[in-house]
Amino acid sequence: MESNKTFKDRRTHYCGELRRKHIGEKVVLFGWVNKVRDIGSLVFIDLRDREGLVQVVVSKEQKQLIKQAKQIRMENVLGVKGVVQSRKEDMKNPGLSTGDIEVQADEMTLFSESATPPFVISDDVKATEEMRLKYRYLDLRKPSMQKNIKLRHKAALKVRNFLDQKGFFEIETPFLTKSTPEGARDYLVASREYKGRFFALPQSPQIFKQIFMISGFDRYFQVVRCFRDEDLRADRQPEFTQIDMEMSFAEQEDVLSITEEMMVSLFELIGIKPKRPFPRLTYKESMEKYGTDRPDLRNEMEIKDLTDTGSKIDSNIIKAALEAGGELKGLVVPNKGDLSRSQLDKAGEKARKAGAKGIIWIKKEDRFKSPLKLKLEDFAHLWKESGAQQKDLLLLIADKSETALRILGELRMDFYDSKKSENRDIEFVWVTDFPLFEWSEDENKLVSMHHPFTSPRKEDLSRLEKEPLKVRSNAYDLVVNGVELGGGSIRIQDMETQKRIFKVLDLGQEEMKKKFGFFLEALTYGTPPHGGIALGFDRTVMILAGEQSIRDVIPFPKTTSSLCLMTESPSEVDSKRIDELGIKIIDKYKGRNHDEK
Ligand code: AMO
Repeated sequence: MESNKTFKDRRTHYCGELRRKHIGEKVVLFGWVNKVRDIGSLVFIDLRDREGLVQVVVSKEQKQLIKQAKQIRMENVLGVKGVVQSRKEDMKNPGLSTGDIEVQADEMTLFSESATPPFVISDDVKATEEMRLKYRYLDLRKPSMQKNIKLRHKAALKVRNFLDQKGFFEIETPFLTKSTPEGARDYLVASREYKGRFFALPQSPQIFKQIFMISGFDRYFQVVRCFRDEDLRADRQPEFTQIDMEMSFAEQEDVLSITEEMMVSLFELIGIKPKRPFPRLTYKESMEKYGTDRPDLRNEMEIKDLTDTGSKIDSNIIKAALEAGGELKGLVVPNKGDLSRSQLDKAGEKARKAGAKGIIWIKKEDRFKSPLKLKLEDFAHLWKESGAQQKDLLLLIADKSETALRILGELRMDFYDSKKSENRDIEFVWVTDFPLFEWSEDENKLVSMHHPFTSPRKEDLSRLEKEPLKVRSNAYDLVVNGVELGGGSIRIQDMETQKRIFKVLDLGQEEMKKKFGFFLEALTYGTPPHGGIALGFDRTVMILAGEQSIRDVIPFPKTTSSLCLMTESPSEVDSKRIDELGIKIIDKYKGRNHDEK
């Protein structure tokens, strides 16, 4: 069969669209060959396009055509003209949306041949992540990836239409800009005109969107790329997309309400109607009940404070921990009373690695079992106060409150099997009243928990300089199934407060002026009260698609070590280009492979 032929007919349908109602119709299809089965008198070709697969059949009566069909290989690009017919009863494939029908081919054109692909294009074939990303154009042909990227498009469209209806303008902000502090490192772009100076790629459009409010645009949004040079995980990429929003004359309730409405509209795409209003937890409640500020509420286990009970119990271990200012926290794991010793030792090991002195477990069979030696009435007391039932497992940690909560929070998720809860329940929760600052062990200084433009709670303002860690903020996060989907706040509206915050963050006058002088000045020219939020768009699509990694909803993601395997970037550049920028590469970094650090 000749290749590179143009097809005289235009496409009538996508392969995956054909159904029983098309039986008898003459159709023209274009697609890729998913599979060929040659059974001598018949050749079956599964033809695939972005909407799905359809079976094309060529029979021996079509002498010329069957000869052609026998030469067809996987991933060849074909045009097929034929008639839709019903499949024989025993040939129907209920697992395929086009499984009731097939297309009897009359004519075929080979548009292009394909080299043998490095892996079979199928959702059932598990190619390594490395192969998938190196040959991303092939990986993207897989039905699941086609579906995810289509969903991504539909989601962006839904957001745009929804926000347009609510009076938001989509306005672009620059990528070549100045550092926008969101807690990560900046990607820098060297300037050729101004040697020795750099643009920073935005970690978010935060400052610009606030300036839009000062400029009077009232409601802004953008589906926008952000860049952060930080350690990657399944839900983090160095460049990712946000649904970024800002509103003037808005209070927290306004932002929360419009975000909920937008989420409900987005989840229509997968036929789920989340209940409104979404539940809310303060940061403090979330930490105390779930040991994390992004709780997965599909999991019903809650951490209990048993300090009071613990103080009445005759145990040296517990006593010592409480006397050192610690607390006793407990977690009941339902129906896990039958865990083996080695599984329990594993949990203990994890707790020790995470900084606790250890973990105490209690089971109740005909009698209490535990490595802790206690009087029967003490066991009974703890058991009752924790709310544990016969077949449950009670885990206790007596330690610094934060340590105990953090570790029990992790064990709470380790012992929860989200796959077993088979439904794809969506559990949204708002976490509010975040502290304004936290102590960074790495940097050995106070840092903003969200970013420095977040407003402090009015009633806490007087503590700003003296007890900064006790100041609460007007910040909120949206969490779904344990994933932080978005975060935002009501902003600081006046220059004085903004300067006070920078000062608490240890920014001297000079540095403040150099980094944020333009913004501090902008605040003085009539700033409306304003606030907003940014939602991780990749994470949103990941949840909508039911995927575990954002890499499965981003067309060209980086690896977890920030490489693009397809283009082999980052890569070295011509030394002339480097010279032009006034930059020098240290010798030891020259001439290395793209994946060498
Ligand atoms: P924040 O830093 O919380 O807020 O970011 C908002 C949301 O963006 C997503 N996100 C990421 N997604 C993928 N990869 C990453 N590396 C990554 N980092 C963040 C998360 C997160 O919740 N300017 C503020 C918003 C505001 O205050 O309005 C901001 O960017 O889903």
